Amino acid sequence: MARIIAGVATSHVPAIGVALDQGKTQDPYWQPLFAGYEFSKRWIAEQKPDVVILVYNDHASAFSLEMIPTFAIGCADSFAPADEGWGPRPVPVVEGHPQLAWHIAQSTILDEFDMTIVNKMDVDHGLTVPLSLMFGQPGSSSFQWPCKVIPLAVNVVQYPPPTGNRCWNLGRAIRKAVESFESFDRDLKVMIWGTGGMSHQLQGPRAGLINRAFDTAFLDGLTRDPMALTRIPHLDYVREAGSEGIELVMWLIMRGALAADAREIYRFYHVPASNTAVGHIILENP
Ligand SMILES: [Fe+2]
Repeated sequence: MARIIAGVATSHVPAIGVALDQGKTQDPYWQPLFAGYEFSKRWIAEQKPDVVILVYNDHASAFSLEMIPTFAIGCADSFAPADEGWGPRPVPVVEGHPQLAWHIAQSTILDEFDMTIVNKMDVDHGLTVPLSLMFGQPGSSSFQWPCKVIPLAVNVVQYPPPTGNRCWNLGRAIRKAVESFESFDRDLKVMIWGTGGMSHQLQGPRAGLINRAFDTAFLDGLTRDPMALTRIPHLDYVREAGSEGIELVMWLIMRGALAADAREIYRFYHVPASNTAVGHIILENP
């Protein structure tokens, strides 16, 4: 048996990874940001998930404009940190959970989601920065991530990305898949994380755009009325949250996989981190 115990959402800004890797977490610019994750690190150390389904987007590391899957699930035994131009991040190889990943692939595809199955893939900052924020930085070469990770990559870089509603429904299908998983050795505690966002725009005349009101309403909506968030059209994301704010649809996969009455137990919001509004929320299933 397996069950989803909680959902986590967090930004995955690449500069956060650089700050961690270069030991700058206590610099005045970065200290307030990392302080916002101290509760989360304590919380997850108590929760001890066996598997994290980590929803993120690839940034032209594993995929490129030559091949753009809308949804892609990593079914491999392991996933190496990608070289994004400065060498791979000095973080552990990510261990997968092929049994559960294949089961989710089978269940969601038979539920009519066109999921791409990936058997070899490097994972970039979109996946490794959230792991670092939640589990901390390697203190020694023997450090391993404390749980298995199933990467779930979503296209939010090339139009058209999936709608928020499609993402929500995929989350529901993932929940159904997890709950029908038969684990013969022991029960699995599963978490699902949605990453990316919040408001940010990296190019063009509006570069640097931050919209605190939109971000706050989105965070409120995750708890109070997530269905309303599924109806936000793409143009509203671009207008209100900037050209990269569309990453927030990935949070709706996480939210769709949780119970309707999932409870918010922590929230953090910080501006700026490398021109991005950093948002973070933890929701526990009842
Ligand atoms: Fe991203």
